[in-house]
Amino acid sequence: MLHAKLMEYKVLLTILAFIFVLVNCDESSVKPSFRAASRTINGTKSCPGCNTRSRYSRTRCCGRAVSDYFQNDQFEKMFSNRNSLEAQAKGFWDYHSFVTASALFQPYGFGTTYINWNFMGTKEIAAFLAHVGTKTSCGHKVATKEQLAWGLCYNKEMNSNSDYCDGHYKNAYPCAPGVAYYGRGALPIYWNYNYGEAGKDLKVDLLNHPEYIEQNSTLAFQVAIWRWMKPIKEHQPSAHDVFIGYWTPTKNDTLAKRVSGFGATMNVLYGDLVCGKGDNESMNNIISHYLYYLDLMGVGREEAGPHDVLSCAKQVVFNPSYSSFP
Ligand SMILES: *[C@@H]1O[C@H](CO)[C@@H](O)[C@H](O)[C@H]1NC(C)=O
Ligand SMILES: *[C@@H]1O[C@H](CO)[C@@H](O)[C@H](O)[C@H]1NC(C)=O
Ligand SMILES: *[C@@H]1O[C@H](CO)[C@@H](O)[C@H](O)[C@H]1NC(C)=O
Ligand SMILES: *[C@@H]1O[C@H](CO)[C@@H](O)[C@H](O)[C@H]1NC(C)=O
Repeated sequence: MLHAKLMEYKVLLTILAFIFVLVNCDESSVKPSFRAASRTINGTKSCPGCNTRSRYSRTRCCGRAVSDYFQNDQFEKMFSNRNSLEAQAKGFWDYHSFVTASALFQPYGFGTTYINWNFMGTKEIAAFLAHVGTKTSCGHKVATKEQLAWGLCYNKEMNSNSDYCDGHYKNAYPCAPGVAYYGRGALPIYWNYNYGEAGKDLKVDLLNHPEYIEQNSTLAFQVAIWRWMKPIKEHQPSAHDVFIGYWTPTKNDTLAKRVSGFGATMNVLYGDLVCGKGDNESMNNIISHYLYYLDLMGVGREEAGPHDVLSCAKQVVFNPSYSSFP
């Protein structure tokens, strides 16, 4: 009698365990009922939701938040010198603003995407922050050692002598009088059209108030994640897409040696400023930041993949010299 009861419990437990496995993308804690909002930030597709087959059947997306696996102490280690005397943006950047900014893009897969049941989020955050760390570093100026620990020194381009107002876009994105659209943010954006587009998507009037970005670190991270998530041009993949592999290379891409991975994110964001030039120092500096951050996030640099995927040394660029990323 007791035995039969125990058997019943066992069966029940097995069924429950099975259900648990079904709703979990891996062993770690995942909120099972996540569904992405159906709206889209223009050009960026929202996630299909956890355990829902999308038309991109390789993609699965779960409701794990960036703050579940990326903690304040990791952020502090990555950007340990950002509040030093040498840092122009001393006191500006913090973990909380990054996590708040990330939350806006999590429904679109930022830091939350699974591909073939592999969680891509941790690596994606390391990759995204590698670009941030490199672009905002003052390591080359002040550091004799620990060159990689000087990210987030800046929140804007210094000593700019251009207003970055492109007259071609004067109808869609008219330049406001007396302001300049120089590089601002964690992954700096430049030019009136980028401020205009980012402002439209984020619902902040950046065209008339570009200075908001240097006054608000959440916004400064949002603009950066926007740049990461949004293709530079229509019908092109975003840095996010090429990093997680939410992108099918065409025959042309293959001929151009463009493959999914970290190398292609540099191709999307900087084009021929760093890619297709062989073993370029600027490129290697970005890769070094990525490897260093992978270590600090506990993933380990050995998970970064082969050099061909990490590098863009031999890739033909998506967009030949455009001036928005000096
Ligand atoms: C997306 O872009 C279209 C066309 O440019 C525009 O009409 C629409 O309002 C935009 N949607 C959002 C949410 O910005
Ligand atoms: C900073 O920007 C965020 C995101 O746009 C916004 O929610 C917040 O209200 C802003 N903070 C201030 C003090 O303006
Ligand atoms: C592929 O490349 C060729 C030669 O550069 C070009 O003419 C063609 O339009 C490209 N096709 C696509 C789909 O981009
Ligand atoms: C890398 O490319 C940049 C931009 O073209 C250039 O200034 C730099 O000299 C290059 N470095 C190497 C080692 O080729």
